Amino acid sequence: MRRAISITVLSALAGLAQAQDTTPFDCSQFLKFGNDIPTTKAAFEKNPETMAWNWFVCLNQFSPTQASNRVWETMKPSDQVYLPDGAAPGAYASPVPPPTEVITQARTLGMDLNRTFHNINATQQVDGLALHMGGAVPAAQKGNPVRFQLLMGQDTFDYIVQRQVYNMNGQAALPDNLDFPATSWELKAAWLWIGSDTTYRQTLANDGYYIGQAYFQQDDGTYQVGYAALSGLHVVNKLDDNWVWTTFENINNSKYTVTNAPTPTPMTNTTGPTPAAKPVNVSFQASNPTLSKYELIGVEYQPVTQVLANSQLESAFQNTSSCLACHGTAAYSNDKGYFNFALKQGGGIVYPTTPLPASDFAGYKKLDFVWSLKRAQWQR
Ligand code: HEC
Repeated sequence: MRRAISITVLSALAGLAQAQDTTPFDCSQFLKFGNDIPTTKAAFEKNPETMAWNWFVCLNQFSPTQASNRVWETMKPSDQVYLPDGAAPGAYASPVPPPTEVITQARTLGMDLNRTFHNINATQQVDGLALHMGGAVPAAQKGNPVRFQLLMGQDTFDYIVQRQVYNMNGQAALPDNLDFPATSWELKAAWLWIGSDTTYRQTLANDGYYIGQAYFQQDDGTYQVGYAALSGLHVVNKLDDNWVWTTFENINNSKYTVTNAPTPTPMTNTTGPTPAAKPVNVSFQASNPTLSKYELIGVEYQPVTQVLANSQLESAFQNTSSCLACHGTAAYSNDKGYFNFALKQGGGIVYPTTPLPASDFAGYKKLDFVWSLKRAQWQR
């Protein structure tokens, strides 16, 4: 009798899982698409939003090799790839330790020296503006910028090293377009700075933010060291030739970030969650308590006309933000420099929301959607 009931319950649950397509996903080898690209691609095309969430869950599991970090926190930050002197980067799996001053401060603050310290030095978004903190943030943080960083997976890194495009010399010497392997991954993370304010840290933790350890250098050369809350995460990979574009953010971001209007108002996302993302968010949030306050805004792949933005990363230009169309302009010309994706229209600046024609790139070497290559320096 007992057995009969459990079988009934189990099969009901199995039916439910199938209906919502949340059958447990195997995270082992997910960065390699389970070593079966066609099967993963078929599953992705069947339900892009579910696959995006599966990847997000896998990226946020504890790292099997560095137990105190999430998988994504062990990826290579771009500042360890595009070095200031254009030198070759160190090995993928040998993270560069933070500056001594950061370690000293971290020790004083009682932080975990075995966990990653993210260098979150970037504040300028693609349009040159910063997103400001405001609303429910402590007085000390009001008006300060949201910070971000770029990270890449091993296969992205290996390709950049192999083609020697980590510096400008290598990009100038390129005979033709780049073509990253299908298992290339890249991330862009947005962080609310907390510092050492334990009350604020707890408030953000209660609002479901993932709390990481971080630092950044100030204008006078000294370092700020402390905690930061993950407010947004772009996750992209090359499962599709035009890459697959997904973006997640915390549902409480409008409480802590504001627009740059004369009288700042709460920053919201005007592009999603898309109708397709909504039901998938509900089921994954329910089955992943530590990620329950994050939502998928949407997925973009193939040349589709769609705007998609993260309120934390494309804040002020959400209405002309197409991940695929803008990244599709990533190109370099030895004569003209990097392609300028800021299009003049009606006396203002807009960004492409449909892929630009191939003829626009005559004389350019296409960088296969990877705009961070713009960070490369000349080797001195
Ligand atoms: C108007 C152009 C534009 C739009 C729209 C845009 N990006 Fe980007 N993106 C960039 C640029 C430029 C960089 C490099 C930024 C830097 O070096 O700080 C970048 C960096 C990134 C990176 C880091 C790796 C890389 O490719 O350089 C990821 C991941 C990323 N963007 C994902 C997205 C996603 C997802 C969307 C849509 C939700 C998006 N981007 C929308 C221009 C854009």
